[in-house]
Amino acid sequence: MLGPVLLAAARSAGVRRLVSSTPVTRPVVDRYIAGERLDDAVTAVRALTGRGLEVTLDHLGEDITDPAEALRNRDAYLALCEALAALGLGERAEMSVKLSAFGQALPGGHDLALANITPVAEAAAEAGTTVTLDMEDHTTTDSTLAILRELRRRFPRTGAVLQSYLFRTEDDCRALAGEGSRVRLVKGAYKEPASVAHQRRREVDRAFVRCLGILMTGQGYPMIGSHDPRMVAIGQEMARRAGRKPGEYEFQMLYGIREAEQARLAAEGHRMRVYVPYGTDWYGYFMRRLAERPANVAFFLRSLATR
Ligand code: FDA
Repeated sequence: MLGPVLLAAARSAGVRRLVSSTPVTRPVVDRYIAGERLDDAVTAVRALTGRGLEVTLDHLGEDITDPAEALRNRDAYLALCEALAALGLGERAEMSVKLSAFGQALPGGHDLALANITPVAEAAAEAGTTVTLDMEDHTTTDSTLAILRELRRRFPRTGAVLQSYLFRTEDDCRALAGEGSRVRLVKGAYKEPASVAHQRRREVDRAFVRCLGILMTGQGYPMIGSHDPRMVAIGQEMARRAGRKPGEYEFQMLYGIREAEQARLAAEGHRMRVYVPYGTDWYGYFMRRLAERPANVAFFLRSLATR
């Protein structure tokens, strides 16, 4: 019950002000966010790659309402590209972007987002790395996949995210299972209506397994974005059956979640990539993490009560 309430709150300006101004929020936020500045992100990249993990960096921002913010977000990613070029890690450090931070939801948003993301994809290619387009709510899926197709013409390493909770996703997996395609499969983190998405956990999990089967037996590069031990075990087994060696697929988990498992998979020789968010606009990302795990909310409320 709490999950949908938190997901609705994730898009409420009033709750955003309340949560963001409460000092005790900070320690809970810090579990999930590498820091507010680019330097913090670089420190996290050094630490994680030093431990044999790979990273994808997210400069936090989403749902912008002013085109000027889209330009600021583009510039933040261009600065990130420069920092990654200096680190020289190639695709061991790539970037994740939310197109709503590049103006996708504004009037003329599709073209605006494409215009703003293109220089980032160019800079990423020059830095020897690439970009993965995060997937947001279902109203954006068609536009995001169209932008993916456009970018892949010039930057074939551009990746996408597909969400197993959407009914359409098995078809999208088939369409994106071709050679060179990089797809991160996740369960999905937004509040979606029953007309477009599975509502029960078990159905989302079953769909995840079906989608993963399509990607693993295809010609592309599957990226398994889940902390769920069952999905990780199934992913390993499917990769083995499909004759894929480590490096022909990868696991991905979020910064601060199941770190021992991240280390274990890397130590076993799997490619393990950590999604590292940084920046000041952490509210929406943080609320989705709370919604995924009610125990986090209890911890958060206890901190409020003991003040
Ligand atoms: P599940 O929710 O079943 O969690 C399994 C276990 O993981 C839990 O029992 C708990 O131990 C741990 N866990 C999960 N979430 C936790 C949390 N917040 N705090 C603490 N422990 C937690 N979604 C989306 O819609 N668009 C996107 O672009 C992305 N991108 C993305 C990138 C990467 C690398 C990952 C791992 C995930 C995403 N997601 C996403 C989020 C995804 O859709 C999903 O909401 C979360 O991964 C939670 O689902 P799990 O598969 O981890 O399983």
